Amino acid sequence: MASSSSPFLVLLVVIAAAPVFFSLLAAAAPDEHLVTGLPGFHGAFPSKHYSGYVTVDEANEKSLFYYLVLSERDPAGDPMVVWLNGGPGCSSFDGFVYENGPFNFEPGNTPGGLPKLQLNPYSWSKVSNIMYLDSPAGVGMSYSLNKSDYTTSDLKTAADAHKFLLKWFELYPEFQPNPFYLSGESYAGVYIPTIADEVVKGMEKGMKPRINFKGYLIGNGVTDDDYDLNAFVPFAHGMGLIPTDMFEDVKATCHGTFWGNVDEICQENVDRVRWELKDLNKYNILAPCYHHPEIQEAEFINSSLSSSFRRLGETERPFPVRKRMAGRSWPLRLARRDGLAPMWPGLGGRSLPCTSDELATIWLDNEDVRSVIHAKPKSLIGSWELYTARIDYYYDTGTMVSYHKKFTALGYRVLIYSGDHDLCIPFPGTEAWVKSMGYQVVDRWRPWYFSQQVAGYTEGYDHNLTFLTIKASNISPLLAQVVVSTLQGSGHAVPEYKPKEALAFYSRWLAGEKL
Ligand SMILES: *[C@@H]1O[C@H](CO)[C@@H](O)[C@H](O)[C@H]1NC(C)=O
Ligand SMILES: *[C@@H]1O[C@H](CO)[C@@H](O)[C@H](O)[C@H]1NC(C)=O
Ligand SMILES: *[C@@H]1O[C@H](CO)[C@@H](O)[C@H](O)[C@H]1NC(C)=O
Repeated sequence: MASSSSPFLVLLVVIAAAPVFFSLLAAAAPDEHLVTGLPGFHGAFPSKHYSGYVTVDEANEKSLFYYLVLSERDPAGDPMVVWLNGGPGCSSFDGFVYENGPFNFEPGNTPGGLPKLQLNPYSWSKVSNIMYLDSPAGVGMSYSLNKSDYTTSDLKTAADAHKFLLKWFELYPEFQPNPFYLSGESYAGVYIPTIADEVVKGMEKGMKPRINFKGYLIGNGVTDDDYDLNAFVPFAHGMGLIPTDMFEDVKATCHGTFWGNVDEICQENVDRVRWELKDLNKYNILAPCYHHPEIQEAEFINSSLSSSFRRLGETERPFPVRKRMAGRSWPLRLARRDGLAPMWPGLGGRSLPCTSDELATIWLDNEDVRSVIHAKPKSLIGSWELYTARIDYYYDTGTMVSYHKKFTALGYRVLIYSGDHDLCIPFPGTEAWVKSMGYQVVDRWRPWYFSQQVAGYTEGYDHNLTFLTIKASNISPLLAQVVVSTLQGSGHAVPEYKPKEALAFYSRWLAGEKL
């Protein structure tokens, strides 16, 4: 009796439960994380947005903040991509507000007023689900109630981010099957391979939920001191920033090593090169620069240059200055030796040269904005900072080249791209370490195109490893925006160019198409 009725019962239960089960799946994204509107934006979102905290350590309430923009095309089928800005200490709202996010931010009607948001036609959410993650705790909107958590390192940051991902995919089981990618810029060149390492080890151990990790893309990524720091002299020469005789001198005296403990004569020649570059925007040599005089002084505190040489290059022109920026940036020639990441020397980390964070700061410090995106108020976690000095960050990983070797050997897809006018992590260094991995070229160096124009160059290697440059600028519209607001006082025209091309290579690469 029992055995004959049970299949029927089971069937009944299954039928009755199925709609509940499926609706649970469909509604798995936590309702309390849904964003239903944003101050400064009038209109309907083209796709759903979710944001909030995932606690990675209950004892201290150590919590990482994410903002997820679902794909405007096919959320169920498109990849799930995490975006990370660098620093260390940079909030990924940098990407959200100024780079590839769903909105273009324009200045408010009054000085200091709430920015106006328009839809960004080149948002990376056009072709993917994209999640902006503030990592580690202490950065952006992420926080801990125990400030000792703000002392962290490469490996600890990666472990926390992996914990975040496991918990996040538990909250959003409907995205577990989507192809999963990591992406980001600058110091994310360290975040991404180290997080990938945690993810891949987790997959190998059968940790649940299983993350359907497919690969990563990194822009102007910090990777390896030798390659990164030795590239700026050849770059400066190739870009016409230093004359050929200076280049020949520095090459002859330094024997190819332009950083670290070099001898006196090499150091003096390197300092001459640095002096020629000092007024440039290091993140995009074509963009104008906001200058912080104290930063300039600090950069040459230990300089071997004689004061007579220095006076040669001095200028009476006043530079626009922004004082709001905080934290650590990536100074030219800063090595990543194991140990505490230095602040800008002598500055206590007050400023990131050449950039403006005004719009993002106004918006993210507005309590209405914080409330609708489910971020904690300023009273609990303090002001939002593009780059924060709140964290004490220790380097503990060394070169990333060995990580890239590991993941490419395992079959993960890797795109390494360079805005070709970035002086901080110049493309010749990146190109050289990619080549050093020793894979066969399967797609010889060639231009890639957008709208029938050369958008940059690319070289494809065996093992799904691709190198790509983007012509004429760093892809970050942050810098273009600075151009517009300083030179033209309005918010369009100039910055529309690179985002189109960035979305083009991003969507082609994700789809596995020819770039
Ligand atoms: C904060 O965390 C540290 C390190 O885990 C621990 O030693 C300390 O007791 C914690 N402080 C509080 C107030 O919980
Ligand atoms: C200058 O040199 C001193 C002594 O070597 C060092 O402690 C300091 O950090 C250096 N400052 C800069 C800006 O490099
Ligand atoms: C390249 O990526 C594709 C798609 O993920 C995969 O099927 C293939 O095995 C990879 N090739 C290598 C050599 O790893």
